[in-house]
Amino acid sequence: MDETFVYRATSVLSRPGGIYGNMFLLWASPTEFMQSLYDHFGDVVPLGYKPRNVFVFGPERNREILTNPEVFENHSFEDIGYFQHSKEYARELALGLGFLNGPAHRERRRLLRPSFLRESVDQYTPTFASLTERMLRSWDGRETFEIVPEFTDLAVSMGLKTLMGLDPSPVADKVKALFEEMFGLVFSLPYALFPVNLPGTTYRKAGFATQKLSAAVTELIEYKRRTGLDGNDILSQLIRLQDENPEFTVPDLIGTVTGLFRGMYPNIASALTCTILLLALHPQVTGEVLQEIHDRLDGRAIASDDLDHLPLLEGVIMEVLRLLPPQYWLVRISRAPYVLDGHEFPTGTNVFLSPYVTQRMPELYPDPNRFVPRRWIGVQHQPFTFIPFAGGVRHCLGSVYSLHLCMIVTATLLQRYSISLLPHTKLDLAGLRRAFPRDGTLMKLGHPGLPVVPDDLTGNYTRFVDVTA
Ligand code: HEM
Repeated sequence: MDETFVYRATSVLSRPGGIYGNMFLLWASPTEFMQSLYDHFGDVVPLGYKPRNVFVFGPERNREILTNPEVFENHSFEDIGYFQHSKEYARELALGLGFLNGPAHRERRRLLRPSFLRESVDQYTPTFASLTERMLRSWDGRETFEIVPEFTDLAVSMGLKTLMGLDPSPVADKVKALFEEMFGLVFSLPYALFPVNLPGTTYRKAGFATQKLSAAVTELIEYKRRTGLDGNDILSQLIRLQDENPEFTVPDLIGTVTGLFRGMYPNIASALTCTILLLALHPQVTGEVLQEIHDRLDGRAIASDDLDHLPLLEGVIMEVLRLLPPQYWLVRISRAPYVLDGHEFPTGTNVFLSPYVTQRMPELYPDPNRFVPRRWIGVQHQPFTFIPFAGGVRHCLGSVYSLHLCMIVTATLLQRYSISLLPHTKLDLAGLRRAFPRDGTLMKLGHPGLPVVPDDLTGNYTRFVDVTA
């Protein structure tokens, strides 16, 4: 392979070389790093000395990778060394859809699909609305709220209720705490830097945390079996399916439901947070959406039937997912040698795709850094130009669920409050995988109406969205 080509990613950026240097850049500033790779090197960018990692950008490359699941698979449990080397790690947590490939993946998707069709998702509308109302009631008498914890809690309670049938309760709090404990450990720096399975290490503690979580979900399954399975939550639906599908075992069930929850709530929390932030930065758009909501609902609560009649509100959510997709990048692993842009990559290459970069290509989205929800009205975008939910055979199962949830929460909020950024706010967006404002971003509550944009706002948000127009 041409040496200039191999080195160019790092040399042009004048930064430390090799895959570790690049991975550091990705970690330090994922969006800028991916954007500069594309701007400097085009749609196929191998990294490191003997590339085992390559970034690809744009609809054609997205299509090439995402529609070829025979070659490009999701990482399985066996690919992830640190899972395998911990004998404490509860193996069943790696039996979720995201870890499966080939026929096992197809079969699991077949089982899950009915729970995510429009008619099934419509059954969750009252839950989405009532949990939002509950959050709003907790804001009564308050002037401000902290955006990230509030929307994270809301996403968590939506997940606990719709996926597991758990209302806000001590049991739900316990399950939530166990998830938080596990994620806190698995996604911590000591875990990543010192993946050694010795007593007292974060690594060992994470293994035990997965066991506790698995035991709690097992208990929940047993409880549901004893007390009846007539709930419309997804866990009850899946337990009912077990009778006709004996090959779908209890460990499969545990892996599936924990995987759904893990895939659901951070993405939803980010999408909701970014929706409210972008609306707070764009009073004119907020005014137009409010008018649309008023014309349709005239003060009543939003219902499933309304969702097809609020095109601008839908455009807001689509535009949030375009500008700040809750997964900036996706990754596949190649199971056979593969040629991309004339370069052969060996089996085992990690192929990174970037919704963030693709969705900011000016030839696909004119004025790409501006927040323009109207661009979605009456327009059919070409396949693989909009991939916040990936695409092909692994298209996110929760896409309709997510769109509806975000529309319902946003409409309910805007009917009740105006939400503005406070004066002197430093609005910095951070996050390796998805956008969250750094801790401590307070929002101001007011009477329903337009948000006020403070004129002394600072921070890196202007790198993500052009608010000048
Ligand atoms: C705004 C919210 C969401 C976004 C942006 C999102 C995004 C994604 C993306 C990008 C993937 C593909 C990942 C990959 O293959 O590398 C995915 C897969 C998946 N998502 Fe979502 N997701 C969201 C919400 C949800 C929700 C609410 C659920 C379920 C309740 C869900 C369930 C799934 C499942 C089961 C998969 C695996 C599909 C498969 O491998 O066949 N997602 N999601």
